[in-house]
Amino acid sequence: MVFRPQLLSSYFLVFALSAWPSLSAADMSRTMLVSPALALKIGERLHLSPKEGCASCHSRDGRGGGKAKASNLQSPSTWKSAGVARELRAQGIDGETTRSVAISLISNGAAKWNVNFYKRPEYAAVQNKVFFDEGMIGIHSRALKLNTRIVRRLLKKNKTVVSAKELPRVMAESVYFYLSERIFVE
Ligand code: HEC
Repeated sequence: MVFRPQLLSSYFLVFALSAWPSLSAADMSRTMLVSPALALKIGERLHLSPKEGCASCHSRDGRGGGKAKASNLQSPSTWKSAGVARELRAQGIDGETTRSVAISLISNGAAKWNVNFYKRPEYAAVQNKVFFDEGMIGIHSRALKLNTRIVRRLLKKNKTVVSAKELPRVMAESVYFYLSERIFVE
């Protein structure tokens, strides 16, 4: 079942809250399209998926290793996403946080993010643009179809309707929520 009015207000909340440097779990769950409990389930499934889940590059505990290069999922303050959000704020552009940048990276993969992120007119003038290593594929692994099917099944089981268009956002938001609850150490 979908409660559109609630969804609508959650969109406004995203805008209102995204100016904050970091969100508590409670704030975060208010901006998500699915319940925190369901997000945790979806996120865990995506992180640990034996078929090119996040952990296959980032390791189960998120600390990284060869394929994840220097990125450590335990410490969001060290992420390039934090730098991207900081740089935008320094240029007077509000509305991006470490979380919002990371979620757009996870849902698009680096190759697409690198091409599209700075296309918005107000972002084009940003100095010190940061780009990501294309090895970062986010949810766009060769197992995307399989993982999508699994996520759809979880949504159905939990009687939650999400449009096809919103699905990548739900996947990325959920895995981010899982990271924040289970992997972050700061
Ligand atoms: C095929 C390997 C691979 C997979 C699979 C992968 N990543 Fe990554 N990830 C990378 C690499 C490489 C980087 C480093 C990118 C950089 O520093 O430019 C990275 C960086 C990141 C970062 C840090 C970005 C930053 O701002 O510095 C986050 C967050 C992240 N990945 C989340 C995920 C999540 C969540 C998934 C699963 C949905 C995932 N990754 C799947 C390789 C991967």
